[in-house]
Amino acid sequence: MKVLIFETAEAAEYAVAEIVASEVSTRPETVLGLATGGTMLPVYARLCALRSEGLSFAKVTSFNLDEYVGLSSQHPESYHSYMREVLFDHIDILPENCHLPKGDAADVRAECLAYEDKILAHGGIDLQLLGIGRNGHIGFNEPSSSLGSLTRVKTLTESTRQANAPYFTDQEAPKYAITMGIRTILNARTCVLLATSAAKAQAVAQAVEGPLSAICPASALQMHAKTTVVLDRSAAAELRHRDYYGQVHPHGAVHAL
Ligand code: GLP
Repeated sequence: MKVLIFETAEAAEYAVAEIVASEVSTRPETVLGLATGGTMLPVYARLCALRSEGLSFAKVTSFNLDEYVGLSSQHPESYHSYMREVLFDHIDILPENCHLPKGDAADVRAECLAYEDKILAHGGIDLQLLGIGRNGHIGFNEPSSSLGSLTRVKTLTESTRQANAPYFTDQEAPKYAITMGIRTILNARTCVLLATSAAKAQAVAQAVEGPLSAICPASALQMHAKTTVVLDRSAAAELRHRDYYGQVHPHGAVHAL
């Protein structure tokens, strides 16, 4: 696991956008796994800016981590809407190449299986972007999620629903979500987890240095051969070995040996 610690959130966000941009420019047909949440907004804003500087997503395929059960793709608080608003509508990715689970599918279980198959049919995910919940969730894999799980429906914890409540103005935050499983995420060839702010410090410490445990689903990334964790100083604050990470990657720099 590479742990890159930047002084500011802006520098961490910029670094993640650069990782994605470099993947897209070196492999135009890459398959990206995309995440939602407030943390990703500046990353997507930077990718939109890079598009106007010429970066093309025309051959990229994307798969999002998750979607709320019961919300149609047109629902303003759906992750479909989030992705259109903050990224898809501003870059040249083809709408038919953008995949998210259908939260309003008549048969949700069949939708989960079909989503997993679709990822496989595209050859798997090359680069998976991840945020982290305060309780250590990735995607919507809440604590106690099986480390071997595939795409399925999860019940959201009260704390996750509360964290998402501000986005829901005229209804309660949904109770269920379709999410890629932990195994689905671990199957990605590369994972990049971004966490900024002190609110994430404890979850980050458990994920990076805690025991591998379903109680902190992000700790499963310790099993992944090619994961980069990108942090600002506040999110790194509770890491016991942060000085060491800083020595290996001074100011977040990655040196080729
Ligand atoms: C949601 C998403 C996660 C995201 C998390 C953190 O639960 N399903 O993918 O990582 O929120 O969100 P934020 O970045 O807003 O803190």
